[in-house]
Formats: sequence, structure tokens, C-alpha cells
Amino acid sequence: MDKVIGIDLGTTNSCVAVVHNGTPTVIANRGGYKTTPSMVAMTEAGKKLVGHLAKRQAITNAEHTVYAAKRLIGRKWDSPQVKQVLETASYRLVKGPHDDARISLRDKVYSVPEISAMVLAEMKVVAEDYLGHEVHKAVITVPAYFNDNQRQATKDAGTIAGLDVIRIINEPTAAALAYGYGRKLDKLVAVYDLGGGTFDISVLEIGSGGVFKVISTAGDTFLGGEDFDGKVIDWLVEGFQKDHGVDLRKDRMALQRLKDAAEKAKIELSTVKETEINLPFIISSGRNEALHLQRTLTREQFEGLCGELVQRSIQMVQQTLDDAGIDRSEIEDAVVVGGMTRMPMVERAVAEFFGRAVGKGVHADEAVAIGAAIQGSALVDQTQKVILLDVTPHTLGVAIAGGGVEPVIEQNTTIPTSSEKPFTTSRDNQTAVKIVVVQGGSDRADQNDLLGEFTLGGLRSARAGEVQIDVTFEIDADGIVSVSARDRDTGREQQIVISARSGLSREEMAKVMADGRGRGPTGSAPPPAAAAGEFEARRKEAEALIAEVDGLLEPVRAVVGASDYGRDALHKAKAAMERARGAIERRDPGGTKEAVDSLGRTLRMFKGVVSKG
Ligand SMILES: Nc1ncnc2c1ncn2[C@@H]1O[C@H](COP(=O)(O)OP(=O)(O)OP(=O)(O)O)[C@@H](O)[C@H]1O
Ligand SMILES: [Mg+2]
Repeated sequence: MDKVIGIDLGTTNSCVAVVHNGTPTVIANRGGYKTTPSMVAMTEAGKKLVGHLAKRQAITNAEHTVYAAKRLIGRKWDSPQVKQVLETASYRLVKGPHDDARISLRDKVYSVPEISAMVLAEMKVVAEDYLGHEVHKAVITVPAYFNDNQRQATKDAGTIAGLDVIRIINEPTAAALAYGYGRKLDKLVAVYDLGGGTFDISVLEIGSGGVFKVISTAGDTFLGGEDFDGKVIDWLVEGFQKDHGVDLRKDRMALQRLKDAAEKAKIELSTVKETEINLPFIISSGRNEALHLQRTLTREQFEGLCGELVQRSIQMVQQTLDDAGIDRSEIEDAVVVGGMTRMPMVERAVAEFFGRAVGKGVHADEAVAIGAAIQGSALVDQTQKVILLDVTPHTLGVAIAGGGVEPVIEQNTTIPTSSEKPFTTSRDNQTAVKIVVVQGGSDRADQNDLLGEFTLGGLRSARAGEVQIDVTFEIDADGIVSVSARDRDTGREQQIVISARSGLSREEMAKVMADGRGRGPTGSAPPPAAAAGEFEARRKEAEALIAEVDGLLEPVRAVVGASDYGRDALHKAKAAMERARGAIERRDPGGTKEAVDSLGRTLRMFKGVVSKG
């Protein structure tokens, strides 16, 4: 059976795990470390460095060393987050062709998914070294609060790295899996995950039958260790400005040294009460005289600088409990993961909030990758008893006249899910309608994330309101959105592609893969691009899948048909079979491929259900 690796693609560190001989195992890299810095650098000689090698030379090659790329993935150029990175990063950002942020290294410009792909390819090699053979399939984790664009971009990164990403799962859910796997628990737990770049809080019910059901989730994809480091950097820069009248931010190398020192000080203050920050020859005064930076930072001062960040996370914990209608006293265990939860103030705040000591049943740095490996293994091995029921973190809606939003799928809805909405024309003889899809919590369209706009054309000429189009919005188990539409009169279907939402268009993806730019030294060949002759192969695959799914409808109905979840799953399976038949009939290679993917997912899920029945 093909091994599936689980990759925690972190803002600061990445980690890879695999279920080997029945035991989830974290794999150490060649240097013996179980986590690898999520850093990529390009040397003057044009050599690509990833991980520890990139980190080691970051100070002397600051401008061409990328860190925390995850903070940029799937974001728009003019978003406040990209602006903030632009102001503080030592590497160069440029505006991409799809309103995305791209990174300039030496003489080339890279999209963010390409940079992330280099880290993923490195993790793939780490796993291959350990297993002694190539790996192709992976489950990759993302922050629970990632939106559709960020998820799609992460999936694209996996594809560029030569991986078949069989599932995207949420980091806190993965941590809960690592925590509850094989333990026959029946518990309501909260997972508080504060990492290098992002914060997530999820409330889950863990059932003894291996069911992990997320009840609600909240988070901030721009709150993490980077911001704690930033507070120390600001404090150092302001102090230096006062003492010497020199702005250290102007010098890339100085900035990289400050960042390094700030993180070290932060980590030290988790165990000691004060630390000295000493950076000799940090900059020249401009009069040919070197200036040195030397300051003492106490834990108390540091906590004063960061209190607001910790409070923000605690407010979100309250919010997600409120959303779920759960009182904090009902939570039976508060599990903490992520490197930042080693900071005493963070641990204290979580313990105080829940009125109990935090659960340390899992490893702060490794739990997420372990959970991903467990899920990966369960997806290909039906004997494993794991059912993950996650939720969508954001409300999905369509923009309506006047700038408002009509919700289509509410936040915290269990995924996969779908919802149908009828649309009509507002003017006589209107032959096209435009639909704008947004995601987020605001009731103002422009304050949410734009996922895509598309036009449904070819409508028959009729009076306003007479033409009916049913639009189906679907969120799959990866949390990724797709939209399709059907003209009720003609039965004509339109598959709607939300393009370049990851920052890369399909054409660019094909080119990047052909160049092999994101792949590592031993990266395997990417899956072949869709060619004309491919349709026949896809058709056979789709027909076999239809038959297999069809054969499982009854057994699945017998097991879960009585539940909402079960009815929904059966309904969706039938819809997927219909779409597959339609695509075959149209001889549509793209549609058939999508149908094969979707039916493959359905089949895996069905097999999981039936094997547990
Ligand atoms: N002992 C410690 N005390 C305080 N902070 C720490 C400690 N150890 C690690 N950190 C911080 O934890 C962060 C990294 O955590 P982690 O590896 O969990 O993040 P990540 O998974 O890379 O990021 P994310 O999950 O947000 O994408 C860094 O900011 C690091 O400085
Ligand atoms: Mg993490």
C-alpha cells in the first residue's frame, strides 16, 4: 500500500510524520532534527537552500532568505497583512499578476506557493530518506482559520512539490487526533494552537468510536510567534533610535540580526527571568563609527509588551465557546500545541481561562504532523478507525445589491457540505447574470475575502425574474469551495472555475511544474498534464468509480443513513455520480477528472463508514 506522509507546513518550522508498522512516527531530518525551519534562500551562486541550511546563512544573505512565507500565502497584495510584511521583512516582495504578493530572490520572482513547495519538497525528501522509497501521497495541515484561497494555495504548493495532496486538514483537528488516537476517550476538548504565525482555537467532541467531531473553531491567521518577536524588535529599534538617533530598520542585515536576537530572547525568557541582548557592530553611525546594541529584557517587561497579543487569543477562545453555546466549565481538557505555548504567560492565560491545568498529552511541535499522518493512513487503510468531521471556519456567501452579503453556507457547518440557491434575472431580456462569491464574517461584501466572480451566460431572453438558475456551492473535506450552476429551463450546466485564487493561474501552474521550480533534488515527476487522449483513461476510471460508489450506497445507508451527516453524504455521492455521468457524456476531460477526484474522495469516505459498521 502506498505510504501517506503527514506534513505540518508551519510558519516557522515544518514537520513530517508517517504511520510506520502501525505507529505514528515523526521523522528526523538528516541533521537529526525533528522539525525543519520553513526557510528558503538563494545564494549568490544561484544555489537553492532550504531548512537549516537557509536559516544558518540568513543574517549574511538577509535579502535573499525567505521566512514565514505562510503569512503571505493566498493573500492579496493590498491586504493589510501583506503591507505589514512589506514593512518588516528583510526579503523583497513584488506585486504579482493576479494581485498576489510574490517574492524576489536574486534574478527571479517566485509565487508564494512555489516557495512553500520548496519546503514541502524538502519534507518529502526527509520522509523518503527514512522510508527508503519514493513517497507520492500526503496529507498537509493548514490553520483551521485559513480561507479558501489560502487552502487552495497550499494544495497548489503540494502539487508543485510533486505530491498528491489527498487531504488538507486543520492543524488543531490534527493535534486532537494525535491526542485522542487509540485512547477510547469520550470527551469535550479545546485545542489552543499558538504557533509561529497563526492562532487557532477549536472545540471538539472526541467519541470512543474514533469519531473526532469539531463543534466550532475560530482563529487569527496573523497572530503568532512572529508578532511576539515583532514586539521585541520594536522595543529594541525604538530604544536604539532614542539613544543614537539611528533607525535600524533601514539596514536589512541589522534587521535580520534583530529578529534572530528577539526570538532567542523570547525563548530564553520562557525559562529565565531576564536576558541580555547583545548585538555588537549592529550598524555604523554614519561617521565611520560602529554602534553596538546592548539591552537587558526581563520576563516582566516582555510580558508587558505582549500582553495584548495573548489577550486577543483568549478573546477568540471565548468567542468560539459562545458560538458553540458551550460554557468553559464543560471543557474536559484544554490541549495546547504550538511553540508559543511554552511561554509561561500563554500557558497561564489558558489555564486561568479554563480553570484547570493545561493538557500536555501531546508534543507541542510534533502533534500536528502526527495527526496528519494518522489521517493519511486512515484514508488509505480501511482497517483504521478514524472519522474526522470538521467544520468550515468562515461563512460563504454571495454579494447582493447594495453591498451586502447573502449567506449560503454558515460558519461552523460540518464539511463536506453543499447548498443550492436559485438566482434569476433582474432586467428583461437579460442573458447573463454575475455572481460574486465571498467568504468571511462581515455582512458587508467588501469586508470579506473575495473568492471569485463569474458570469452565467447564454440565458434565454425572457422577462425579468422568469429565468431560473440553480447555483450549487460546495465545500469539500479539504475546506475548498467549488461552484456549479444549472439553468432550470434548459438543464444546461455550467462548471464555474474560480481562477488564480492561489495566486497562480492554471497556465502558470502548468509552467511552474514543467520547469520543476518548486521541486526538491529528488522530486518525482509531476502528474502528467491533462492531454487530449487522456479522456479515455479518465472515463474508464470514472465509470469504475461510479460502479463502486453505487454498490456502496445501500451498505452506507444502513450504517449512517439515519443521521443528518449520513443523508448529506448520500445526497452528495449521488450528485457526484450525476456530475461524472454528465462529464462523460460531454466527453469533457477536465470535468471527468474533477469527477474522478470527487468520486475517489466519496469512495474513501464510504469505505471508512462501511468498515466501521
Ligand atoms: N520555549 C519557547 N518559548 C517561547 N516561544 C517559543 C519557544 N519555543 C519555540 N517558540 C516559538 O514558537 C514559534 C514556533 O512554533 P511552531 O513551530 O509551533 O510554529 P509553526 O507551526 O511553524 O507555525 P504556525 O503553526 O503558526 O504556522 C516560534 O515563534 C518560536 O520562536
Ligand atoms: Mg503549527
